[in-house]
Amino acid sequence: MANKKEINRRRTFGIVSHPDAGKTTLTEKFLLFGGAIQEAGAVKSNKIKKTATSDWMEIERQRGISVATSVMGFEYRDHKINILDTPGHQDFAEDTFRTLTAVDSVIIVIDGAKGVEPQTKKLMQVCRMRKTPVIVFINKMDRPAQDPYDLLDEVENQLEIGVHPLSWPINDGPEFRGVYNMYEEKLVLFNPGEKAMENNSVEFTDINDPELEEYIGEDAIQLREDLELVEGVYAKFNNKAYLDAQVAPVFFGSALNNFGVKEMLDCFIDIAPTPLPVETEERIVKAEEDKFSGFVFKIHANMDPKHRDRIAFVKVCSGKFERNKNYLHVRNAKTMKFASPTAFMASKKSVIDEAYPGDIVGLHDTGNFKIGDTITEGEKLHFKGLPSFSPELFKYIENADPMKSKQLAKGIEQLMDEGVAQLFTGRASTRKIIGTVGALQFEVIQHRLLHEYGASCRYEPIRLYKTVWITSDNEAQLADFIERKFQQMAFDKEGRNVFLADTPYSLQMAQDKFPDIQFHFTSEF
Ligand code: G4P
Repeated sequence: MANKKEINRRRTFGIVSHPDAGKTTLTEKFLLFGGAIQEAGAVKSNKIKKTATSDWMEIERQRGISVATSVMGFEYRDHKINILDTPGHQDFAEDTFRTLTAVDSVIIVIDGAKGVEPQTKKLMQVCRMRKTPVIVFINKMDRPAQDPYDLLDEVENQLEIGVHPLSWPINDGPEFRGVYNMYEEKLVLFNPGEKAMENNSVEFTDINDPELEEYIGEDAIQLREDLELVEGVYAKFNNKAYLDAQVAPVFFGSALNNFGVKEMLDCFIDIAPTPLPVETEERIVKAEEDKFSGFVFKIHANMDPKHRDRIAFVKVCSGKFERNKNYLHVRNAKTMKFASPTAFMASKKSVIDEAYPGDIVGLHDTGNFKIGDTITEGEKLHFKGLPSFSPELFKYIENADPMKSKQLAKGIEQLMDEGVAQLFTGRASTRKIIGTVGALQFEVIQHRLLHEYGASCRYEPIRLYKTVWITSDNEAQLADFIERKFQQMAFDKEGRNVFLADTPYSLQMAQDKFPDIQFHFTSEF
């Protein structure tokens, strides 16, 4: 098929890590190798940092936390690579989750001294759920790190995935000499301070070659022992096991020193999956299909603080997306065409004429899109896998400026469409309840309502444990439940029935007493 060549050269992946493990630094290095940015070695420069992280939201600048998810595309060795960055902060876990629905594989960055950290574990759960192939980069080997065997054990046990080291470190910290790259059978030497991009590797197909001593002296003995052991334990690398998300290849390096990054990138190009088939409610959609389809996984507001514009990020799943062609917005049953779709190449946004599966297209949006929306050439498809989770934290949201109630309503509506939080409306009280997964979102909402919509809100506490969607085939029981629990019933934004459980006990009681009612903890059921 015509698009086959384009599909085969695409790799769309997400980088995830616990904050501070080095995700931003690694992303910058990828961009450097792709020629998308030029300032080699200037990693600490704020300028690069700003462009490599999507620093679009003012609040993000204020807090120095990456609350936004950005997309960066670049060309490398005739491949089109799309990196989807994810917010490291745990309060934005849902944002990260949604981004992971748009990737075909993931690179997990781990701090060699700290090992697997809580946020990494959480993110890995999402990868496991979706069977996303994972590569692990153990970073900061230029600093004292844990023993590599311990690190591998930790990854295997804590992230619950098989591991297969494809590079092996020679010492760590001040004695770090480099790595032996098993994938390409070469020794890669670390020269602190040089931040070498090229010419730091020597081919060594035979590790017993005495020449090895010339490069790393007595460390050669330990390296040979390690490699023998590693080979004995892990045998030959099985690419299928990686693609099936059973085994994670592991690389060691130092992103800050640009070390071990190119090796991983080269291997990644070889082994990482091309755009994968995607499930819809109706059928599986394959990248090779002729007709275009895609879904919105992210809506980003406030790209330009002077305008209240939004960009809907669409993952192209099949066919070819073309500028100015008519497409069906399935939920709205509306035909739309896009005059200025954008692509994201490194830090730059540019208008594009076409995009292929794996690519992320930015569509200018005036409020038509919601997370999860599908666009096609006419087929009524609904992409799956973008649920909202039952939130963890709740507050009543009240209007603090009676003159601005319209603005407040509009602001809340649009922020909910973006997936910033979830809104429930009490059936008895008609009060509005905001539910989030992290405390920070309440502040983000308040800040954005004020700065983007000119509306003021205040929060009031509510005693709530969980909001749970309820459905049942037993209509009489459902009606009975709603009547009895009317004070604890609410509608979600789509008008679906939600039970407001104030304690785990009351939820359990409700489940026990009403066996024909299904209690759903995510919005996709
Ligand atoms: P994140 O996006 O995962 O949160 O991490 P980020 O890349 O911002 O890195 C966190 C800190 O770790 C940064 O230092 C960064 O320079 C440092 N770092 C990243 N990779 C390496 C490495 O390979 N070796 C060493 N020694 N340090 C590394 P910072 O001082 O917190 O920030 P900055 O002042 O450098 O921006």
